[in-house]
Amino acid sequence: MSKLSLAVDIAGLKLRNPVMNAAGVLGMTPLLLKHVYDSGAGAVITKSLGPHPRAGHPNPTLVRVEGGALNAMGLPNPGAEYFVDEIKELKKMGVPVIASFFGGSVQEFVDVAYILTKAGADALELNASCPNVAEEMGMLAADASSLEKVTVAVKDETSLPVFVKLSPNVTNIKIIAKAAEWGGADAITAVNTLKAMSIDINFKRPILANTTGGMSGPAVKPVALRCVWEVAQAVDIPVIGSGGVTTGGDAIEFMLAGASAVEVGTAVMTHGVEVYGQINDGIREYLKENGFSSVKEVVGLAQDS
Ligand SMILES: Cc1cc2nc3c(=O)[nH]c(=O)nc-3n(C[C@H](O)[C@H](O)[C@H](O)COP(=O)(O)O)c2cc1C
Repeated sequence: MSKLSLAVDIAGLKLRNPVMNAAGVLGMTPLLLKHVYDSGAGAVITKSLGPHPRAGHPNPTLVRVEGGALNAMGLPNPGAEYFVDEIKELKKMGVPVIASFFGGSVQEFVDVAYILTKAGADALELNASCPNVAEEMGMLAADASSLEKVTVAVKDETSLPVFVKLSPNVTNIKIIAKAAEWGGADAITAVNTLKAMSIDINFKRPILANTTGGMSGPAVKPVALRCVWEVAQAVDIPVIGSGGVTTGGDAIEFMLAGASAVEVGTAVMTHGVEVYGQINDGIREYLKENGFSSVKEVVGLAQDS
């Protein structure tokens, strides 16, 4: 019998398994990211880093709701330059690092990509869902031509694989995914959080200081799964699933829909960092029980039926 392998190759990035942390959840520090890796993740993803330090939105920025969480963090981060040493430290410890990043203009995306590439990241994840972008770029998350333009510019600047992370808050995600692919994206991450809100009936006010935020967790899984399904049909590059993954079975669902790997965010708040190892155990068990010898054999299987 052949040996069972969880190893994956995403656009040349070789990982020991297909489970990563999702960007920004818990505001990960390098030590925490190392802990995530030691707990079984195949690679770690930094919080989204921008060109300048950002304080983010005022509190409350996170609220638990039925089926998950709502957040409006406002991309708080110390700035890409500050994180250079942290990435180097993680690399020294042997941790594969994917640097998530954003900018307010095409030039800022390019500048940040340059800094993170020089820092030694293994891949970049372009966060196309940032709320504060310059007029010139329109609504990056929903504007195919802006996204293509940014992706082209970033790809010109870096030799690293670039994953483009899409928002589910669009009418047709296939068009947006295709634009990223045309721009040279090496993979698509689908998806970021779903726009949502919550109201305190006693105070008669929205709970989040920002009024609206992004929904994550188990309740968004069917939406994220549909996005992965559609993106996988639209592009010829790998897809990474994100949204509500909590168990090995959830990860397998995303893989059957066409994802080569998954990112896990909200589940770490409810299950702790052990969740990465547990999801891998679940994937391994499924492969064994169903007679598969590698993750690759499962990817997109549901699309074929
Ligand atoms: C508190 C919090 C902070 C987040 N920060 C980021 C971020 O900085 N960059 C990003 O691309 N996504 C960010 N996200 C979205 C997650 O990376 C992930 O795509 C989303 O939460 C769906 O996955 P989940 O249901 O497993 O959490 C954040 C989500 C949460 C809950």
